[in-house]
Amino acid sequence: MKTEITFRLNGIERSLFVEPNDVLIDVLRTRLGIKSPKIGCDQGDCGTCTVFFNGKTVRSCLVLAIEADGGEIVTLEGLSENGPTPLQRAFADRNAFQCGFCAPGIILSATELLQKNPEPDRHEIQEAIAGNLCRCTGYTPVIDVIAEVAAKKTAGKNRKSR
Ligand code: FES
Ligand code: FES
Repeated sequence: MKTEITFRLNGIERSLFVEPNDVLIDVLRTRLGIKSPKIGCDQGDCGTCTVFFNGKTVRSCLVLAIEADGGEIVTLEGLSENGPTPLQRAFADRNAFQCGFCAPGIILSATELLQKNPEPDRHEIQEAIAGNLCRCTGYTPVIDVIAEVAAKKTAGKNRKSR
């Protein structure tokens, strides 16, 4: 039996009827027009379906849509609604991704890392994106960009506090 759920999606309240077994990634992609989270493995292994759910990254292929009721979902579309973030700009400027299939998930994981830890070292960056598999295996430029953006933020903060 379908149930009505309501949640905030990228800052806008959305309501729709879902089946008890509808999965969040499918509802986002096929019913709400959100295309940045991708279906890779569909079993929680690859991270291409990453979204923010109540402020934390989750794999939306492992979340039932019904669980989102009353919650807040942010996808890459919502992250960049006021223009690209410094991280997104840096990835684009450096052409850091190859096919880009993993990019939305990696950008959200990196965003979460920099929110929690603005000065991560390379090991912490590697750990933060360890759940995001890149089938093009271009991890080095991705880690370089995250490290650069973190370093720039830190330098900016230090300048301000002088
Ligand atoms: S599609 Fe969700 S983790 Fe791979
Ligand atoms: S750039 Fe192709 S999957 Fe990562």
